[in-house]
Amino acid sequence: MVSKLETLTIKPLKDTKLVVLIVEKEYNEPFWLIEPTTKPTSDLSALHKPSIALTSFLEKLIKKIKPDYATEELGLRSLEEFNENNELSKLFKRNEIPFHPVDIEENARSYIAQLMDENKQLRDRIIQALNEQLKKKGQGKESSTEEEYLIAYGQYLQSELEKQEKEANFAVRESWIAMKILDNARNMKSNGEITCLHISSPEHIKGVAKLLESFNVTVETIKVTKEVILPIRETSDLKGIGELLQAMQIKVKPTIRKTSIELPYLLFFLDSDPIASPFDVCMAYDAGYNVVIPYENVNCRDAKKIVEDAVFSRGPKGVKRTTFFIGGKDIVKAEEITKVITKAMFPPFNASVIVDPAGAYTTAAAAVAKVQEAISFQKLGSLGDKTCAVFGTGSVGRIIAVLLTKLGCDVTIASLNPNRKNGDEYATELAEQLNTQYGARVQGFFAPTPEKKFELFKKAEVIFCAGTRGVQIIEKAMLQKVKLLKVLADINAIPPLGVEGIKPHDDMREIMPGIYGAGALAIGRLKHEVEIEMLKEVRRIGKGTYNYNFAMELAKKLLQKTIRPAALELTLSYADKKK
Ligand SMILES: NC(=O)c1ccc[n+]([C@@H]2O[C@H](COP(=O)([O-])OP(=O)(O)OC[C@H]3O[C@@H](n4cnc5c(N)ncnc54)[C@H](OP(=O)(O)O)[C@@H]3O)[C@@H](O)[C@H]2O)c1
Repeated sequence: MVSKLETLTIKPLKDTKLVVLIVEKEYNEPFWLIEPTTKPTSDLSALHKPSIALTSFLEKLIKKIKPDYATEELGLRSLEEFNENNELSKLFKRNEIPFHPVDIEENARSYIAQLMDENKQLRDRIIQALNEQLKKKGQGKESSTEEEYLIAYGQYLQSELEKQEKEANFAVRESWIAMKILDNARNMKSNGEITCLHISSPEHIKGVAKLLESFNVTVETIKVTKEVILPIRETSDLKGIGELLQAMQIKVKPTIRKTSIELPYLLFFLDSDPIASPFDVCMAYDAGYNVVIPYENVNCRDAKKIVEDAVFSRGPKGVKRTTFFIGGKDIVKAEEITKVITKAMFPPFNASVIVDPAGAYTTAAAAVAKVQEAISFQKLGSLGDKTCAVFGTGSVGRIIAVLLTKLGCDVTIASLNPNRKNGDEYATELAEQLNTQYGARVQGFFAPTPEKKFELFKKAEVIFCAGTRGVQIIEKAMLQKVKLLKVLADINAIPPLGVEGIKPHDDMREIMPGIYGAGALAIGRLKHEVEIEMLKEVRRIGKGTYNYNFAMELAKKLLQKTIRPAALELTLSYADKKK
């Protein structure tokens, strides 16, 4: 008779609710395809049996919940061993509950093992060759090139084997286990609900529970802890094991976890603009948030209500996985909203808040960090000692100015719009506002004409161009006349660019003798990394308010510490080295 070949296809149940209670057993059922990845230091197989504590607990549990069937991993056991030489099998038989092994099918198992065997044979040949080398040269002598390459290759094959073992044991086996639990339920008569008791190795509980839940199964996990109680203090007072056992009591205590479903990470994107920016929505998903909920035209009152309803619905546990992201082009509004919502939250309902209006905070942080790094790299002193001019009073320009004064720079921020009426007044008032609100020390200046701009150019050692997109602020001719300028950063990526002659990808290119330039895309790339990192870090750290200060720290860290794998790649060649 030809036996039917089973394939791995997990299908949800149609009309039946399946409840699976997963009880953790006291040891991991041994399993491997080719060889164990970790070898026990002593023979622990004598302890690989459900203890009397577990079976007594299960007996009690069975009486209480009356499961329709029970399952357990088969591991390395034969079917005969599973059915005949298994305490659990006896227990379920006694209680007239069908008991099934659930595990990877034999065909699938031998197919994967066959694939792995090729690697194993090769690794064994390498080990043999190494041993022969060792015998030839004797202990303690220096390794030959051949030996070094053999070791590297052997290690590679070994790690591949271990990876394959792990994959088979976890991803593959857990899928088979979940499938068979579902299939057994499918084969049962039901009146709408079926309960399964699955006895699992500790290491597979999470994976199997997660898989089952993704197929709409209700899962509860039960961990049984034992406490051994001895009425006497010293075990050495007892004459022998017999006396010890007689004096001992075992207390069994279950801990039940209703579900293994982890609460999702939610990000509420509160944008004061009429259309919520897809930029930050996409970034939040890319940084790993599970759900992003955008709100548009948000004002302080709406924001307070959104925050209160969200944090109370999620509870203290969910709040740790809740972030409010304040966006919108207007930074004054963004700061007001931030103030209102941070005031509305109180322990234990404090969620995390990211403030990055229209990307201005992360962009400003990236621009300042990039210039700071370039100045130190080019050995031009420190940014904090420099006289800086910031062209542009939008959100980006303002925060660049704030960050620069925090570093100790002498900063002037320039308003640029030639259509602006009362420009001088506007620039002075803006500087005062930045100084009061952000504790900055900046001066305001109105520079709508080339002559006015040049007044700042003459004095500045570092210039940031944060003008509106598609408007050129600085002409090449101006650059030829300046004496003190060392670094020039342009943030406008839309042609015409803010500075004539600078290219968007310029990353501290010497655009003129002694003047280094950073283009909008070089800064934008770092801004992108900063925002992603900020979202990830905030998800990890939780409660708190994270703004340009945090972004600046991250930008500096990213510039200092980023290991770019491409820069570290190398190719070794045995033949070359032998020459
Ligand atoms: N790379 C990135 O990831 C990224 C992210 C965000 C923003 N950005 C870029 O950063 C730059 C600044 O953005 P922002 O939101 O802070 O400011 P913005 O609102 O785009 O521009 C503000 C500045 O432009 C000036 N301005 C407005 N109209 C002008 C005109 N007709 N002629 C000359 N100047 C004019 C304003 O002058 P007044 O000071 O007189 O009002 C102000 O200084 C933009 O180019 C934006 O595209 C880049």
